[in-house]
Amino acid sequence: MTKILCIGAGYVGGPTMAVIAQNCPDVQVTVVDINPDRIAAWKSDTLPIYEPGLLEVVQSSRGRNLIFSTEVDQGIADADIIFVSVNTPTKTFGRGAGCAADLQYWEKTARQILENSTSDKIVVEKSTLPVRTARAMERILHSGDGNVHFEVLSNPEFLAEGTAITDLMDPDRILIGGHETETGQAAIEKLASIYAQWVPPEKILTTNVWSSELSKLTANAFLAQRISSINSIASVCEATEANVDEVSRAIGMDSRIGAKFLRASVGFGGSCFKKDILNLVYLCETYGLDEVADYWRQVVAMNSYQGERFVNRMISAMFNTIVGKRITLFGFAFKADTGDTRESPALTVSRQLLAERADVVITDPQALVNAAKDLNEDAVTYEQDPYEAAKGAHAIAVMTEWQQYRDLDFVRIHDSMVKPAFIFDGRNLLNHKELHEIGFNVYPIGKAALTHLE
Ligand code: NAD
Ligand code: UGA
Repeated sequence: MTKILCIGAGYVGGPTMAVIAQNCPDVQVTVVDINPDRIAAWKSDTLPIYEPGLLEVVQSSRGRNLIFSTEVDQGIADADIIFVSVNTPTKTFGRGAGCAADLQYWEKTARQILENSTSDKIVVEKSTLPVRTARAMERILHSGDGNVHFEVLSNPEFLAEGTAITDLMDPDRILIGGHETETGQAAIEKLASIYAQWVPPEKILTTNVWSSELSKLTANAFLAQRISSINSIASVCEATEANVDEVSRAIGMDSRIGAKFLRASVGFGGSCFKKDILNLVYLCETYGLDEVADYWRQVVAMNSYQGERFVNRMISAMFNTIVGKRITLFGFAFKADTGDTRESPALTVSRQLLAERADVVITDPQALVNAAKDLNEDAVTYEQDPYEAAKGAHAIAVMTEWQQYRDLDFVRIHDSMVKPAFIFDGRNLLNHKELHEIGFNVYPIGKAALTHLE
C-alpha cells in the first residue's frame, strides 16, 4: 500500500489530502502539522477551516485511510511520498523584506525530512514557491550520507477557497514538474498514477520542475492582473458614467478575453495573490529584469489604490467626516464561502475607517473569530446578526459577496439606520435600484451613485 504524508494541515493540505484519500482507498494518507489545535480540529466535526462540502469528504475517509496526526518524524519515516504544504509567507525582515518568500519553514521541513528518512522518498512541493526552490530543497536532502534517494517534484495547487472541493474533484489540470532523468520520470509517473484515479489523463500535465514552479506564480499573477485591470476601468466608469458591469460583459463576450475574473470589487484579497506576485517581482529583480518587476508590481499597487479609493469615496459622500459615525461592514472574509480573512480588503478598509475615528461594526457569517484576531482592536464591535449590526448605523459597506446579504429585508434595515442612510457596495452584490427606491444613498463600484442628496 502506497503511503502518502502531507506536512502542513492548512487550507491546502487538509482538503487536498481528504480528496486524495476519498478517491484512492488503496492509499494510506497521513496529514501532520506542528499545530496540535489544528490537528485536534481536523479529528473533530468542527474542522479548522470553513469550506463547503469539506466535512463530508473528510468523514468519508477519516479513520479508514485518512489520518491526522502531530507525529511529524514518524510520518516522514513511514512515507513513500511526502507532500510539503507548509505556509510560505512574505519575508518581513532583512534582504527582500516585504517581497521575497520567507523560506525558513521550508528549509526546516527539508532538514526534518532528511533526518527522519531511512527509505527512498518522493518529495512533492505543494506549497507555492519561488522558482528554483526545488534546487535548494534537493541540496539539503542530498547533504546526507547518500543512502536514501530523494526525488523532488513540483505539484502546485490551483484550488480556490470556497470552491476547494469541486476544484479538487474536477480540476482544470494537474501540473507535475520533475527532472528529465530516469528517476525523475519514474517519480512523475508514480504521482500521476495517484491523480489518474479520478482525473482524466489529458488533464495531467507534466513539465520540467522550473516551468511548474513558474506556472503557479504566473497563473496567480494573471488572475490578479485581470482584477486590477477591471478595477482600474471601474474608476474610469465612476468618472464618466459608464457602467463597469456592462463593460465587463461587453469585453468578456470576446472569446479571446473570456468572461471570468472580471468582477470589479473593492480589491482582491487572500493569502496568495499579493504574496505570489511579490515573489515574482523579487525573482525578476534578482535576475536584473527591472522593467518586468515594475510591470507586475503595478498589479499590487492598483489593488491598494482600489481599497483607498473606496474609503475616500465613503468619506466624501458622507460630508467629508466620519468621526464618531457608526459604519457597518457586511462581510469580513476575503471572499464568500470561507472564514479566511488573510489579506482581506475588509482589513485595510477597517483600519482606514478607524484612523478616521469611525465606530466600526463588523458582521460576517463565518469570519468573526478571525476578524477579531486580525484587527485586535477594542474599538470594533462584532455582531453575528446583520440586522443588529446595521441598527443605528450611518452607513453599510459590503465587503464580502455572501449571497445571504442579497435576501435581507432592506426596508427593515433602512428603518433602523441613521438618516441619510448610505450603502457602499464594494462587491456590486445588491440590487442598487431597489435600495435607492427604499431611500438609501447607494454607491456601487464602477457605476454612478444613486442618491437622494442635492
Ligand atoms: P496554512 O497556513 O493554512 O497552512 C500551513 C500549515 O503548515 C499550518 O497549519 C502550519 O501550522 C503548518 N506548518 C508550518 N510549518 C510546519 C512544519 N515545519 N511542520 C509541520 N507543519 C507545519 O497555509 P495554506 O493556505 O494551506 O497554504 C500553504 C501553501 O499552499 C502556501 O505556499 C500557499 O501559497 C499555497 N496555496 C494556498 C492556496 C489557498 O487557497 N490557501 C491555494 C493554492 C496554493
Ligand atoms: C486564488 C486562485 O483563484 C487559485 O487558483 C489559487 O490556487 C489560489 O489563489 C492560491 O494560490 O492561493 P483564492 O485566493 O482562494 O484563489 O480565491 P479567488 O477566487 O481567486 O479570489 C481571490 C480574490 O479576488 C478574492 O478577494 C475575490 O473576491 C477577488 N475577486 C475574484 C475579484 O475581486 N473579482 C473577480 O472577478 C474575482
